[in-house]
Amino acid sequence: MSLLNWQQDDAVLTVQVAGDVADIVDITVPESLRRQGVATHLLQQAMAELVQQSVKELFLEVRTSNTPAIGLYQKLGAIHVGHRPTYYTNPTEDADVYKITL
Ligand SMILES: CC(C)(COP(=O)(O)OP(=O)(O)OC[C@H]1O[C@@H](n2cnc3c(N)ncnc32)[C@H](O)[C@@H]1OP(=O)(O)O)[C@@H](O)C(=O)NCCC(=O)NCCS
Repeated sequence: MSLLNWQQDDAVLTVQVAGDVADIVDITVPESLRRQGVATHLLQQAMAELVQQSVKELFLEVRTSNTPAIGLYQKLGAIHVGHRPTYYTNPTEDADVYKITL
């Protein structure tokens, strides 16, 4: 298992890789830089490098209300593959799971 990081200015993407499966641990873009394609760029860079490492699937688990993250992920071709009721606390919320096939 390994943790990989990509950064652009103060934006960060962290991905955990285990075999041919990867999970997004965190993707955060500072508010002042949002909606300018920064997250898209970081993810595209990561996806290209993960393909080189023979990773086949990239997962994101996210709060159901997280419209920006879900929109970002769907724009990159993600499909909805799971729903986890009351998965998060503070505040309590369901999780949705999305997958990009690399
Ligand atoms: C999710 C996040 C990383 C997106 O970063 P970003 O750099 O603003 O994203 P991009 O500019 O690359 O946007 C790509 C697409 O995502 C979607 N999107 C991004 N922000 C959105 C918003 N506020 N509302 C709806 N859709 C949004 C859109 O489809 C957008 O494409 P468009 O601008 O052509 O419409 C950023 O909002 C963020 O840091 N959020 C807080 C942390 C977080 O929740 N991370 C995810 C869970 S780990």
